[in-house]
Amino acid sequence: MAKDKLWGGRFSEATDAMVEAFNASVDVDSRMYAEDIEGSKVHARMLAHCGLLSEADLEAIERGLEEIRQEIEQGTFTFSVALEDVHMNIEARLTEKIGDAGKRLHTARSRNDQVATDVRLYLRRRSDALLAALRRLERVLVDLAEKYADTIMPGFTHLQTAQPVTLGHHLLAYVEMFDRDAGRFLDARSRMNRCPLGSAALAGTTFQIDREMTARELGFDGPCRNSLDAVSDRDFILELQGAAAITAMHLSRLSEELVLWMSAQFGFIELPDAFCTGSSIMPQKKNPDMPELVRGKSGRIIGGLVSTLVTMKSLPLAYNKDMQEDKVAVFDALDQLEACLTITAAMLPGMRVHTERMRKAAASGFSTATDLADTLVRAGVPFREAHEIVGKSVAWCIKHGIELHEMDEAACRGIDARLSVDMVRRLSVEDCVASRDHIGGTAPAQVRRQVAWWKERLNEA
Ligand code: ARG
Repeated sequence: MAKDKLWGGRFSEATDAMVEAFNASVDVDSRMYAEDIEGSKVHARMLAHCGLLSEADLEAIERGLEEIRQEIEQGTFTFSVALEDVHMNIEARLTEKIGDAGKRLHTARSRNDQVATDVRLYLRRRSDALLAALRRLERVLVDLAEKYADTIMPGFTHLQTAQPVTLGHHLLAYVEMFDRDAGRFLDARSRMNRCPLGSAALAGTTFQIDREMTARELGFDGPCRNSLDAVSDRDFILELQGAAAITAMHLSRLSEELVLWMSAQFGFIELPDAFCTGSSIMPQKKNPDMPELVRGKSGRIIGGLVSTLVTMKSLPLAYNKDMQEDKVAVFDALDQLEACLTITAAMLPGMRVHTERMRKAAASGFSTATDLADTLVRAGVPFREAHEIVGKSVAWCIKHGIELHEMDEAACRGIDARLSVDMVRRLSVEDCVASRDHIGGTAPAQVRRQVAWWKERLNEA
């Protein structure tokens, strides 16, 4: 019966069963039980501290909540859809256990500030876990970059061979991305870490409460300043989803490269058997399902951000039930992202790199053309003319089916008197990478310098 509900006083009819099911969020929000219990304990302590709750009631509430935590963790607690959400399930059980004291817990509180507090506490914990997963992946990539500091591969633009790079340099590019992602999570956390408790339904409460105390005891940096904002803002969720979406996008790029590199056509790497699957019909297949799934899940994570944005768009202040949907998307995004980060970090150390094949690919496709132009520039040829001379040389080589370093004296002079066979013979992919020896360059020496810098930085992080 609706009148049996915690809010049933003004109702005379039973809630439709369909409404109970549609209205409930307990399947999604029961995972915040620990935060709900912690928030309630601190709220009760504050009420007692302010003389709004007796010491005996406080003692009963704390004990009752602790027992409920154990019931949940031991699997003996039954969450009921009729009780709608985690907050009312726990409160109803508390009253069942301790009687009147349980009914006093909700003094000076609304589910609106309660849910806003619980979600922040829960997401704070989850974003810290994500940060740790990001750091683990960064460390894995830094170790691989060190291992492959000298390994030469083709660098691409437009997925066409551009210039040789080192694999270590390529991997460190992802460390840069994931490190900025970590920064975004930290940044989002700092804005998220304010306490809505005490804002009550939307306007605050008539009781003389101590909001500084609840904020402090829950590890927040302080109370939210505006009660309307505190119960209706969900931009902290959007920021986390934004950070998650960008991280997922970065992971999808790495994953896409792994998929490409493992194809027979590239043949650059092989992922470990333990992280691949076969085909039910084609016996020869070994498929890179893990990076494919990570790439695919990025769509889901990015979609979640859009979903919450659209849910929040145009909502009037303050709380609206629409906002119950916020948790579905952000929980899913964080779950999926954590799994993606974890599996990628676990998979990469077992990757086999076919360094010879990479080097061969790096040496083909006229990847040293820019270096030949630079050599001409050093001999006094203006860059635009050097570009033209090398372009003609490439065309000549394509026509004759050879590489630049295979041109003979006659071929060189035939293209331009300033082009010599010495210049083309000196071209090597090793020199190409080694000579890009400045901050941010692909030279093995630079990769090693960056690896050392990252190791120190990640030790502190
Ligand atoms: N389950 C609700 C949510 O997640 C809790 C807040 C409900 N507040 C209300 N006034 N009905 O948003």
